[in-house]
Amino acid sequence: MRGLKDQVVIVTGGAGGIGSATCKRLAQEGAKVAIFDLDLNKAQALQQELEALGTQALAVACDITQSDAVSTAVAEVEQKLGPITGLVNNAGWDIFKPFVQTEPNEWQKLIQINLVGMLNMHHAVLGGMVARKGGRIVNIASDAARVGSSGEAVYAACKGGLLSFSKTLAREHSRHNITLNVICPGPTETALLAGVTDAAPNPEKLREAFTKAIPLGRLGQPDDLASAISFFLSDDAAFITGQVLSVSGGLTMNG
Ligand SMILES: NC(=O)c1ccc[n+]([C@@H]2O[C@H](COP(=O)([O-])OP(=O)(O)OC[C@H]3O[C@@H](n4cnc5c(N)ncnc54)[C@H](O)[C@@H]3O)[C@@H](O)[C@H]2O)c1
Repeated sequence: MRGLKDQVVIVTGGAGGIGSATCKRLAQEGAKVAIFDLDLNKAQALQQELEALGTQALAVACDITQSDAVSTAVAEVEQKLGPITGLVNNAGWDIFKPFVQTEPNEWQKLIQINLVGMLNMHHAVLGGMVARKGGRIVNIASDAARVGSSGEAVYAACKGGLLSFSKTLAREHSRHNITLNVICPGPTETALLAGVTDAAPNPEKLREAFTKAIPLGRLGQPDDLASAISFFLSDDAAFITGQVLSVSGGLTMNG
């Protein structure tokens, strides 16, 4: 992919399944990668792996729900790796149960992580991108945002918000040469999906049902997402903004 070498990219939730695959792919392409995560130990282990690939990396303990912590973390990246050119809003969290069985404290946690967190990140990073007249942002939503998903009502609401927020900012910032695009994963083998299936009465049956529903006949792997995310960050995607791409083995084919 063209143009990723020496880019400075923040990946939130960078120590998780899709996040770590993305960090590795970006490092292979020569980008400098900042790994933002709650889990500093995992982020630091990943930093070493990325450095072994010959690129600069930085593990940062950052709770994206805290705007002050986000501002401090973004400043640290700019000081240690240079001006930020790319942002992947990937950190996320889900619980799986019918809406009427959920509690307001669960909605709050879902909204804080999946919605407020990405607002904090955009707010902290966009000013620099505007001043430098360039940047690429990739937001990780979910097919639940596009077509709905039983058991994920508040999560889907947050991801739907992320989708329309991204399209709006894509319009506001096109004149600054900043692109924003959204990727919607389908069921992808990570800790998040394991949390969902393990909570089901018959986890194996649920995994089978997910797999059967996917036309390409398998669950997504983190690398499937890393490729698409890296593409949107690259110069190969320079003329694409405000778009939503499902990376789901064909699970959803809506226009
Ligand atoms: N795995 C799937 O099936 C699937 C499907 C659709 C969408 N997604 C989305 O993909 C993204 C990545 O999910 P994943 O499957 O890799 O999950 P994961 O659980 O493997 O990784 C999520 C990472 O986010 C981090 N995180 C959580 N809260 C945070 C916070 N407040 N601040 C900083 N970091 C935080 C976690 O520590 C973890 O490392 C999420 O946005 C998720 O909603 C995943």
